[in-house]
Amino acid sequence: MAKTDPKDLRSARWFAPDDLRSFGHRSRMMQLGYAEEDFRDKPVIGILSTWSELNTCHSHFPDRVRDVKRGVTQAGGFAVEMPALSVDESFTKPSSMLYRNLLAIETEEIIRSHPLDGVVLMGGCDKTTPGLVMGAISAGVPMIYLPAGPMLRGNYAGKVLGSGSDAWKYWDERRAGNLDEAEWIGIQGGIARSAGTCMTMGTAATMMALAEALGLTLPGASSIPAVDSGHQRMSAACGRRIVEMVWEDLTPDRIVTEAACRNAATVAMATGCSTNAVVHLIAIARRAGVDLDLDDLDDLGRATPLIANIRPAGSTYLMEDFYYAGGLRALMRQLLERLDGSALTVTGKPVSANVEGAEVYNDDVIRPLSNPVYQEGSLAVLRGNLCPNGAVIKPAACDPKFYVHEGPALVFDSYPEMKAAVEDETLDVGPDHVMVLRNAGPLGGPGFPEWGMLPLPKALLRQGHRDMLRLSDARMSGTSYGACILHVAPESFVGGPLALLKTGDTVRLDLPNRRLDMLVGEDELARRRAAWTQPPARFERGYGYMFSQHVTQADQGCDFDFLQSDFGRSAGEPDI
Ligand code: FES
Ligand code: MG
Repeated sequence: MAKTDPKDLRSARWFAPDDLRSFGHRSRMMQLGYAEEDFRDKPVIGILSTWSELNTCHSHFPDRVRDVKRGVTQAGGFAVEMPALSVDESFTKPSSMLYRNLLAIETEEIIRSHPLDGVVLMGGCDKTTPGLVMGAISAGVPMIYLPAGPMLRGNYAGKVLGSGSDAWKYWDERRAGNLDEAEWIGIQGGIARSAGTCMTMGTAATMMALAEALGLTLPGASSIPAVDSGHQRMSAACGRRIVEMVWEDLTPDRIVTEAACRNAATVAMATGCSTNAVVHLIAIARRAGVDLDLDDLDDLGRATPLIANIRPAGSTYLMEDFYYAGGLRALMRQLLERLDGSALTVTGKPVSANVEGAEVYNDDVIRPLSNPVYQEGSLAVLRGNLCPNGAVIKPAACDPKFYVHEGPALVFDSYPEMKAAVEDETLDVGPDHVMVLRNAGPLGGPGFPEWGMLPLPKALLRQGHRDMLRLSDARMSGTSYGACILHVAPESFVGGPLALLKTGDTVRLDLPNRRLDMLVGEDELARRRAAWTQPPARFERGYGYMFSQHVTQADQGCDFDFLQSDFGRSAGEPDI
């Protein structure tokens, strides 16, 4: 219900009463240099910034926090910056995914335990979007998401470079002996040349777009390049709008509905999303009590044409081009007949109103539905005796010759073992082989690392091949490409059937029928299962231990069981 009386603000519980506790809160605000009129009777807005000096994608956040504050102040609110775990993609090991849930916990608890009436969430680098959004949904106060925005296009020697994708591509050329040291170093300096997230349609760009499609950003926010002055203006606009949202009591449960989650999934498919979108979207939906599953995503995948011609699924363009072509508003307008246009958003208006008048300025970047990049959506979900609970593949980013494929397995139990083998020029491998990495899932990795685009064996590269069918229980970077089957569930580390596969067994992929099987008899599989023993636990203490006790499998979104909305009653408001 809309609020009109400042006494009804959540923060008033901390600041308003004439008692000893509130005296303490007010005197401590004065310690910070604020007079009562600065904060009394005003919506207190937390700016949750995932900035750190090792988060290369968020280096503009200190400036943007100032812009958000400007907006909050203009609208009559009071803003405070609250740093949250940065979870940078480049440096966090063994995998940033290990820490998505930690950011979600931190986000929820920062909000719940402090006098905040609303929050602006600042993230963008892969796991920060889902981590912040998951936590804020559970906390339940009005929130608005401010995406970091993509970095500028990469550039070296007249060539445009795309994050991730071109690193993999040129690394293969280097390993094939086609690229010298100076060129390699030139690419190193040119592939990431401004603040902002990876600028291919990787996980960051995907998740920022999904936050917008869920209705959690202001219209168009997810497409603005990080260093464009429009990004500063968008930041201030978020500050102004969140203050209004507090008075309107526009809470996330009214926005993140089943319709919104389906809209997000449809947009994901139409943009050529990262495979990681599957895991994060399921986790986000479940926080909101929406039961979105792999089959829903496969159905939407089959029904939705891919219309954003952005690498790696598209052939040429990058996020900067997407912005100039009209950005996500234009794409969503193009897609409106397939969306629920009545879904409510942070503007207080429905999706249909937010995208009204959005135009496509380059119809090779944002294609009409009649001329898609790829007829079906970006992702397909497989099942079979290798993955009873599902596996994921990105058909649009792999050579169609692998859609129906049968070949002998080449199995590795660990990343170091595989890494050594692929460098071995005498490795006995042919183009039909199916390279397999296991013990790389949520528990086995540990933390579900992005190892799924297994490097091609040198022996194969030298024969001139640049793709092969690969299979793992890992994830892969959204900037990756190739015939990679991922997220096999249950993972091998906990005894999923992938654990029973042996080198030389025949693996069969039948993408049109969504099947993935090993051609091994039931009796033989039973014998192997009886002989299987679980590898020793990865963690015996600390956060990793908690992670291993509570993380769910890929098909469930990898949230902690105890954080899901159906686990139990929430703590509610703290006593003050
Ligand atoms: Fe931050 Fe790719 S490293 S988005
Ligand atoms: Mg990534």
